[in-house]
Amino acid sequence: MTTTSPIALDTVTSLIMDARRATLEETDLPTVESPVNVLNWPIQCTIGPGLEGAIACESKVGYVNGGKGWLIYRGYDIFELCAYSTFEEVSYLLIHGKLPNRSELAQMKEKLNRYRHLPETKRLLMGFPVEEMNTMAALRLGTNLMRQTQTYRDQISVESSMGPIASDEDSIPMETPPMGEEHAIYEFYTKLFSPPDTALEGQRGSEGLESCYHLIAGVSSITAAIARLRANHLPLEPDPELSHAANLLYQMSGKRPSPLEERIMDICLILHADHGMNASTFAAMVVASTLSDIYFSVGAGIEALNGPLHGGANTQVIKTLEGIARIENVKPWFDAMRHQKRKIMGFGHRVYKAYDPRARILGPIAKLLLGEHPEMKERFGIARRLEELVVSTLGEEKKIFPNVDFYSGLVYSALGIPADLFTPIFAVARVSGWTARVLEYLQHNRIFRPRAIYTGEYDLEYPKIEDR
Ligand code: COA
Repeated sequence: MTTTSPIALDTVTSLIMDARRATLEETDLPTVESPVNVLNWPIQCTIGPGLEGAIACESKVGYVNGGKGWLIYRGYDIFELCAYSTFEEVSYLLIHGKLPNRSELAQMKEKLNRYRHLPETKRLLMGFPVEEMNTMAALRLGTNLMRQTQTYRDQISVESSMGPIASDEDSIPMETPPMGEEHAIYEFYTKLFSPPDTALEGQRGSEGLESCYHLIAGVSSITAAIARLRANHLPLEPDPELSHAANLLYQMSGKRPSPLEERIMDICLILHADHGMNASTFAAMVVASTLSDIYFSVGAGIEALNGPLHGGANTQVIKTLEGIARIENVKPWFDAMRHQKRKIMGFGHRVYKAYDPRARILGPIAKLLLGEHPEMKERFGIARRLEELVVSTLGEEKKIFPNVDFYSGLVYSALGIPADLFTPIFAVARVSGWTARVLEYLQHNRIFRPRAIYTGEYDLEYPKIEDR
């Protein structure tokens, strides 16, 4: 990472606002009274494979207008948030539904500072071969390790199983229940099932929020610890003077980032923070809807995000660009992929049928960083050429455009982040959206339970094994 930067921070802001203007102009906006379709709930809709078109719930957290290429968090458009806000503010906005005032923001930052430490979790994590693990598996493990506090529901099962387990010579009964991080609480269960106790209600509400903050800070610190362990370094303590984005970079590299590096990391976190009913958010919500807890929900989100059709695409894009290697190889490579009807990572989206606004921001940022990273020029050139080819062919035919993952890897590389950390960094950002949507859904929880159309047989006679 470089420590000085000749690029003024204002340049980044104006670049984002230029992208906003392009979105408004290129989608040729008529005056729209409300960009959000008004639907009467419950609604009827046509559902396709992959639950295409299905509506899972109502939400005020965020909105993706795929036809226009808009992304809105709680009423604010992504361009303005990236231009003027910070990840801390945006996380507060997603979770609480409003932008924080100065004292609310200060309180949130103070909590994140406290929760970034995670001494127990990091100590436990270091007992595993993190350097050999898939980074998303290590992140899932680390998030599981954050939830160490025994709760009364866990306690019941520990006590009731003490007797029989103790009679097994190989099993040693626990003398003391394992205790760990202070704020891992089984809050959904207590909130929804225990008898009403008004004295405790306020506390329980804040426990839910505390766990969200704990996870937002924790997923970031765990990701940084994974980066350190994989580079054969010990995890670093956070620096309370630094922002969330700067702490992430500092805890990974051991160097305080330049203002430009911090700003760009912050923008990356903001624009990955939420994105409608995407697969990982839905996975987190499905788990939460069973009244499992928020740590398990976020664990499910991490697992879903790992796939190359979702968050794992950012790593695949860099591998693709590396594989193409030279600009003159782009066309033959693309032609071969088209011929074989193979998918090109970093392109296409279930919802966007216009240019993804996040790619509109990240593309110019990647280009801006070339000034300081001339070694990236060839790879950026390959990316631009590939984008031209895809947009002029698949864009015309099937509305396939670059998505958020196409340029994010180039930006992360310029920040000195290794490719196997790209998807965990996506999770560092998305944990805000996961927790915000889970908390919102649980206000009116109903367990998710879709159905399948059974196309198998139903009248077979059971054959004896020798007759099969
Ligand atoms: N490259 C080439 N063709 C693509 C494509 C891509 N990246 N994405 C979609 N298509 C084509 C499909 O081949 C299919 O063509 P067909 O109708 O001729 O069979 C059509 O577009 C629809 O694709 P489908 O996979 O059904 O769309 P989906 O809505 O189910 O999938 C994605 C959405 C994101 C999973 C898909 O676009 C994809 O796999 N992209 C690559 C992975 C990626 O970048 N993921 C990150 C998303 S943020």
